[in-house]
Amino acid sequence: MSIAVIGSNMVDLITYIETMPKMGETLEAPDFSIGCGGKGANQAVAAAKLGAKVMMLSKVGDDIFADNTIANLQKFGVNTDYVEKVTGVSSGVAPIFVDPSSQNRILIIKGANNYLKPADIDRAEAELKKCKLIILQLEIPLETVYYAIDFANKHNIPLILNPAPASKALDIDYACKCDFFVPNETELEILTGLPVTSMQEIRTAADTLLAKGLKNLIVTLGDKGAVWLRGNEITHIEPYRVNAIDTSGAGDAFIGCFAHYYVQTKDVEHSMQMASLFAAYSVTGQGTQSSYPDKQAFENFQQQFKK
Ligand code: RIB
Ligand code: NA
Repeated sequence: MSIAVIGSNMVDLITYIETMPKMGETLEAPDFSIGCGGKGANQAVAAAKLGAKVMMLSKVGDDIFADNTIANLQKFGVNTDYVEKVTGVSSGVAPIFVDPSSQNRILIIKGANNYLKPADIDRAEAELKKCKLIILQLEIPLETVYYAIDFANKHNIPLILNPAPASKALDIDYACKCDFFVPNETELEILTGLPVTSMQEIRTAADTLLAKGLKNLIVTLGDKGAVWLRGNEITHIEPYRVNAIDTSGAGDAFIGCFAHYYVQTKDVEHSMQMASLFAAYSVTGQGTQSSYPDKQAFENFQQQFKK
């Protein structure tokens, strides 16, 4: 395996809305789709679709969603030897609302994802030790995230931590033990308590985290691209202009793709450029994983942006 994702699986229940109903109101929405999601699984699938050898450490419930979730990962070639069912618990579920401007609002019910524990990392130790990169998010218990960070440090395995959804409880000392810390702008705002409405504000907020000892901070900025900050250096990756339909899962598309190219090239800027393009492709289609291109579709898409 080249990449291990220790993280979540969710079932995405995506409602395309005109507006949110008011309290007590019943409102018709134009469209709905159900799909496989979860930040962990999305990132695993994004990398796997590009050809990476990916394993997932994850939990699903014992409901109607479980088998489909495992089959879906397998369909994309993600190794599921360590994706286990938890008895008597629901799978993770995410009601998502996408508005006409393609922006999303997401609720998550973690369900079985709450049951991914440090002991699960111990059980997978032999396989995990062989990986070239581990990716983490915050849809599993924090104690498991911390344990994974210590595990990766002990075995010299590079780490990406995607602090999503943002949790104020996250111990930044642990984030500093990761090679890459990758929030989006909303998460950066929540983590720092600072506004992020301009590039200057983003930089100021980012600096407060860098001052605590973060190695590489990559902030994804949606239609404003992405920035990579380390020490006093900053690199801005310009966005690719596309016709956005559904931005849900775009951040995960970025991270999964970034991981794949980073493992192959160790070139951060190039990996960010590819990740930006991959995320741009994803916002042109409905859903999360269902909107990610495979290798061929991604290569065709790249041609459109070559001058
Ligand atoms: O980042 C998007 C993802 O967040 C969705 O797939 C949803 O499941 C939530 O985990
Ligand atoms: Na999408």
